[in-house]
Amino acid sequence: MRAAAGSSGSTSWFLDDIGAGDYPGCVSIERHCDMATPSLLILPGDGIGPEVMAEVRRVIDWFGANRDLAFDVSEDLVGGAAYDAHGAPLSDATMAKAQEVDAVLLGAVGGPAYDKLDFSLKPERGLLRLRKEMDLFANLRPAQCFDALADFSSLKRDVVAGLDIMIVRELTSGVYFGEPRGIVKEGNERVGINTQRYTESEIARVARSAFELARKRSNKVCSMEKANVMESGVLWRDVVQEIHDAEYPDVELSHMYADAGAMQLTRWPKQFDVIVTDNLFGDMLSDLAAMLTGSLGMLPSASLGLPMANGRPKALYEPVHGSAPDIAGQGLANPIACVLSFAMALRYSFGEGAAADLLEGAVQDVLAQGHRTADLMGPEGGTPISTAEMGDAILAALDAAA
Ligand code: IPM
Ligand code: MG
Repeated sequence: MRAAAGSSGSTSWFLDDIGAGDYPGCVSIERHCDMATPSLLILPGDGIGPEVMAEVRRVIDWFGANRDLAFDVSEDLVGGAAYDAHGAPLSDATMAKAQEVDAVLLGAVGGPAYDKLDFSLKPERGLLRLRKEMDLFANLRPAQCFDALADFSSLKRDVVAGLDIMIVRELTSGVYFGEPRGIVKEGNERVGINTQRYTESEIARVARSAFELARKRSNKVCSMEKANVMESGVLWRDVVQEIHDAEYPDVELSHMYADAGAMQLTRWPKQFDVIVTDNLFGDMLSDLAAMLTGSLGMLPSASLGLPMANGRPKALYEPVHGSAPDIAGQGLANPIACVLSFAMALRYSFGEGAAADLLEGAVQDVLAQGHRTADLMGPEGGTPISTAEMGDAILAALDAAA
């Protein structure tokens, strides 16, 4: 057997469980009074990004005022907003700042105004640059079905009620970044080229993240690729199996072709615990999994890299939803995914499991009380509340729980 690829220390931030909630904590830091105030870079971005982030700012302020949990918050531009200001979707200065802070919180990027831009200038490139240069290889996308929303899913209640799965998407390699790429002329026609490429160590490190997470959940990992048609899929399957056999034999491991995985996710999603998959399949499967829970407006994500000198992982938190330009600026957007992304930051970057529990509990309370933004209007209809009213409700639930 080949030696297990990659350095086994590379995901050590998953090893220490200090969080008390549903997600495993993954940093070895604790609350130290003598530590500098933790720093947070907020990049609201485009579309509904700024309006959902405005509600997160209020939540951050609430923790400062009520929980002695102050953050050194700075704000900057990304995506189309950065392009408008600097002619690039992420300035070098903002990139440098992102490398320095303890965590980055991002809203969303993109919009029709930028569709015609050269590829290198598109808003999405700003986000991709952050992911690549911060080396955020493990993208955690939990799909949890809140009880109060089980009837909002397009699937039957018993298929989704109680659903709690975690997609671990490889985020810094694969066809998103592989070379060669481009559109070239061949004879009389143009050819579009992208390259799916994975090294053993890239597969190994994200596999370890998935196994570590599984150990703190239901101890089950399903790895998804297309080993039936792609060599990169064959290697993916081999390396995941090797890492399993050498380091995580106690975890139940299965393999599935990604197309069958999509089918199984809609047929009986509760068969899964942790799903580990590559960048492109992870992009698609996580949208699918998100929608099982009723609305894309609910789901947060954490993108984690190697530990920094202070023990915290490099980290960027963002909602899974996009910039939704069609509803931007109208107060219709659901801020919950972005609020829950901050909860993930509390848990994974700052070791504040209790604060994350409190915030996730407040969101649950708000939903149980029947507060609904427009994306959460079920078949029975009703009057949706605005983005800011949802923020009000979350703050009120925090007050009530505190
Ligand atoms: C996501 C998004 C991004 C991706 C876009 C905005 C570049 O769809 O985070 O899932 O494709 O990774
Ligand atoms: Mg996506």
